[in-house]
This record gives sequence, C-alpha cells and structure tokens, in this order.
Amino acid sequence: MMQEFSRRTDWNLAKTAYAAALERLRADGRAMFDLTASNPTTCEFQYDRAGILGQLSRPECLEYEPDPRGLPLARAAVVKYYAEAAATQISPGQIFLTTSTSEAYSYLFRLHCDPGSEILIARPSYPLFDFLADLDDVRLVSYPLFYDHGWHIDRAALAERITSKTRAVVVVHPNNPTGHFTSPAEREWLEGICDEHGLVLIVDEVFLDYALDTADARENAHASFSTGEHPVLTYVLSGLSKVAGLPQMKAAWIAAFGPELLLEAATARLEIIADTFLSMNAPVQHAMPYLLANRSSVQQQIRRRVRENLEEFDRRLGGSPAVSRLLVEGGWYTVLRVPALMSGDALAIRLMEQERVVVHPGHFYGFDGDGWIVLSLLPPLPEFAEGVTRLLGSIA
Ligand SMILES: Cc1ncc(COP(=O)(O)O)c(C=O)c1O
Repeated sequence: MMQEFSRRTDWNLAKTAYAAALERLRADGRAMFDLTASNPTTCEFQYDRAGILGQLSRPECLEYEPDPRGLPLARAAVVKYYAEAAATQISPGQIFLTTSTSEAYSYLFRLHCDPGSEILIARPSYPLFDFLADLDDVRLVSYPLFYDHGWHIDRAALAERITSKTRAVVVVHPNNPTGHFTSPAEREWLEGICDEHGLVLIVDEVFLDYALDTADARENAHASFSTGEHPVLTYVLSGLSKVAGLPQMKAAWIAAFGPELLLEAATARLEIIADTFLSMNAPVQHAMPYLLANRSSVQQQIRRRVRENLEEFDRRLGGSPAVSRLLVEGGWYTVLRVPALMSGDALAIRLMEQERVVVHPGHFYGFDGDGWIVLSLLPPLPEFAEGVTRLLGSIA
C-alpha cells in the first residue's frame, strides 16, 4: 500500500517559470542586479559582530530553564522596547516569545480557529500566510486595499466578507509591500467591527520602526497598536528579524492586549500552546537584552539605505511617462506601476534574461492584473542604482 500524505500538504511543488529562470541565470556565474534582496545580513550593513557573538557564549546559555512565555529577562527586554519605541507600558505577562512571527501567527490561529475558520487578510500583502493557513487548517479570505493618494482599507468590502466562520482580522502595520500604515481612523473602525462581530485583531508590526521621514508620510499614522485602549483582543507581533536586522537569531514575540477577563483567558490558553513547543533556545534569549538595546545602529543604517535608494530611484526615474512609483510611508519595499504589456512573470523573466535584473512581479503579493513590480529598498546603493538604470532603460 502507498503511504498517504495529509491533504493540507497537497501543494503544487512544480518549479515556476520565474524560479527556473532565476536558478538558471544565477548558475552561469555572471553578476545579477537583485532588486528583491531583503536579507539584511547580506546587504552590507555593519553589525557589532564581537558584541553579538560575545552574548551568545555567556555561561547562562548552558542552563535549561524552560518558561513557556520566554525567559523573564528576555521578556523584560521586550517590555523596555515598547516603552522606548512606542511609549507603551506593557507587563511581562502580556509577552510571549516565539522563534518567528510565522510561529506567532500559527499560535494565534490555533488559539482562535477551528478547522475551516476564516481569517481576513489584506490584499496586497505579504505572501507568507497561504502556507501557514494550510498548515493550521484555516481559510484565508482577503479584503482589498485600494490606492488613492495613499493606501486605504476598502471598509465596505471587508465588512461584506465577515461570516459566522470569521475569527480574526490581520493587519500589517506598516504593510509589506505597500509601505503604508493603518490610519488612526482605520484602527478605530477595525476595532469597532471586530467588537461587533466577536473577532480578534492580529497586528504585524515588524516594520514599525522603519517609518520614512519623507513628504510621503501622513500625519499621526505611525502609532503602534500597542498604544491606547484595546476594546477587543489585540495581538501585536514583532521580532528581532526586522527590529534588530537579525533574522538569523529566530526571536520574535506576541504582545497581547484586550479587556481584562478576555486577556486572562487568552494568555492562559496561549501559555499551554507555547508550553507544548517550548521552542525558544537559551542563548538567544540571554542575548535579547543586548540585541534589543543595541538595535539603533543597524536601524539607522537600514533607514538611511531605504531613504537613499528611494531618492536614487526618483532621480533616475525623472519624468518618465511610462513608470511611476507609489507613495511609501515605511518598510523596506516600493511598488512601481509599469505598462501592462505582458504578464508580470513574462516581464520579470525578460528583465532577468535581458538585463540581469531581478524584481518581483506584483502578483507575488496579490496585486490584481499586470503592470505591478515590487522592489526591495535594501540592496547596496551601487547595485540598486545599476539595477534601476537597467530596469528603467528596458521599460521606460
Ligand atoms: C510583514 C512581515 N511579517 C513577518 C515577516 C517575517 O518575520 P520573521 O522572520 O519573524 O518570521 C516578514 C518578513 O519579511 C514580513 O514582511
């Protein structure tokens, strides 16, 4: 008899034309201009290598003191981060450490969803959720964002998509790749509709510290969801991967907020979920106070890179009638509107083959139709500038 696999892993594993072209071109050894590069550890930032490595070899790292919520000293460091970054006073009891925001999402899906439950997520947004949802047997239902001098939630469309199976609304703040923050008015509306329908709010704030100080930024829109009142259960997610530019450390967290009794019930259950995995390791937890306290050097370098690349892009774009860039308020990405003369994949493959430039077609992030390109703003400036020149030369 054939051994069976679960239906939830019944994915189409065939390599896409995009992935095959990228693999083939990378293998020929000639330079590529990768405008999708967003791994901070490979984008030529200066890290305090000795300090970081020193933290990972402390004697305490050899002790095993399992705590489902995470070691108190590591959670205290997260509490301090919120006091500094968002002027929010959180108690350590509201914090749960996880190895990634993906794991944090998964804990929350398991906490609030049954098989077949529905989660509302923005479109366009970060594409990680599809597999997570399959693995946790939940169904993703997208709500549209629309662009009109900045991005907005289509409130009527979101409200229409709520059913008796809906359990949560996910907001990425600022969103990836649109780079927009949820406005205070949108937050208030979201809290109202979640309250009305018994839904929880899951807010991914991994890019919160990367607001762009440009004319694009809208007033007062950058506050963390950890601030203010919480009329519904609200889970704020973040982690070292973006906050300290250290994705390899595998440390993230959930900060839980909400009405007292509900919050108590939620955290008691969450503790059991976390206790079942006990996934945090000792060395990284012991290093967290240092890594968080020293986040500003890498954050400043990343903010400067993003700003310089965006300025460089605008200089090279000039008055091109064919290509435009959408407003960016924060994060590490920018979205381009280009002529929709061919499919997004065909365009991306042509750019790879003819110009050796790697970009993401918008459909990777759920943009409808063709004519959308997403660029990372993290590549080193010379590589970014050359890639953009080739890209614009080929399209404009
Ligand atoms: C919006 C968003 N959330 C979460 C993550 C992943 O974070 P982690 O490394 O903690 O899983 C990313 C990574 O790019 C992201 O863009």
